[in-house]
Amino acid sequence: MNDADSDSKIFITGVAGFIGFHVAKTLLQQGYRVVGVDNMCELYYQAALKKARCEELKKNEQFEFFEEDLCDYQKIESIWKKADCTQIVHLAAHAAVMPSFDEPFKYALNNTMSTQVVLELARKTTGLKSLLYASTSSVYGRSNAQDSLDESKCTNTPISIYGASKVANEAMVQAYVDRYDIPATGLRFFKVYGPWGRPDTVFFKFVDKIYRGKTISLYNFGNIRHSFTYIDDVILGLISALHRRPDIKKHTRHPIYNLGNPNSIDLNYCVEVIEDCLGKKAEKSFEPLAPGDRSFTKANIDLAKKDLNYNCNVNVEIGLKKFVDWYVEKYIPLICG
Ligand SMILES: NC(=O)c1ccc[n+]([C@@H]2O[C@H](COP(=O)([O-])OP(=O)(O)OC[C@H]3O[C@@H](n4cnc5c(N)ncnc54)[C@H](O)[C@@H]3O)[C@@H](O)[C@H]2O)c1
Repeated sequence: MNDADSDSKIFITGVAGFIGFHVAKTLLQQGYRVVGVDNMCELYYQAALKKARCEELKKNEQFEFFEEDLCDYQKIESIWKKADCTQIVHLAAHAAVMPSFDEPFKYALNNTMSTQVVLELARKTTGLKSLLYASTSSVYGRSNAQDSLDESKCTNTPISIYGASKVANEAMVQAYVDRYDIPATGLRFFKVYGPWGRPDTVFFKFVDKIYRGKTISLYNFGNIRHSFTYIDDVILGLISALHRRPDIKKHTRHPIYNLGNPNSIDLNYCVEVIEDCLGKKAEKSFEPLAPGDRSFTKANIDLAKKDLNYNCNVNVEIGLKKFVDWYVEKYIPLICG
């Protein structure tokens, strides 16, 4: 820690989401006060899980929650003024890739407007210590198994509306940084998984389907490798970024870091690990890759290692075991009552 102290109050957008929940939980455990906003939208998964995450957070009295839409500037500004926070972690977004083709207007409006609102709050706040915001590996567009994606790679060829909306977010933040010296840092996450995860993501779907005896779909005919990253590693990197005042220089891009697993892991191997954890064999169907989807990602984390002391400590065997244990012990009772 070098910049925040435990008196700090942190404003988290998208706090009922997967990553927002874990950030809030960790900060609360560390003695911080957290003000969280989420509109509990149900675009790609049910609000029941978001409500359960909020209930978990509300066990800590230092947590304050507002069910509100980030795109409503007046309402959010009034919450922000009363909250008196010194740092912002902006995670709210429509996050899934494939639904962005079905709901392009919702993605474009929500992901740009919510970020615009956060930037206006930041601009009007004297003494803001930091603004962290979520970006994604989807800004890199298509890549192949040999490409180690580093932050200097060109991001003008996204292949999904979602990816494009995040490229737009990075550009919007840059304009505000350049004009108003906002202490902003972007974090590009890569396929995050773990307990309390998103039901629309690949590991969650596989565990759920294998558990229920349903067939799993392996796209690109099973030829998929990704930088699957365990949530605890992402949270360590994010909190390290929260404590680091970004080096903002005129006409230079604000700091943006990959927070991903530097090892690109074969999805077939992950299926084997899940089968072992559940003690059940998967029924598989092999299918072509859908347009807009990607088959390979590999995060280069040299910059995050250097500046944030970021590392990926949790291997997929341990991470998937923890996820499957949570799914069986907590998620199934939660959903089945
Ligand atoms: N999970 C991943 O693998 C991953 C990978 C890359 C990037 N990201 C990014 O990280 C962030 C968090 O992702 P996540 O996986 O926790 O997703 P999530 O969908 O679980 O969380 C996002 C939360 O934001 C909320 N939200 C959306 N629009 C809002 C609005 N207008 N007002 C208030 N709340 C709103 C949603 O209700 C949701 O709870 C997102 O910005 C996402 O794009 C995630």
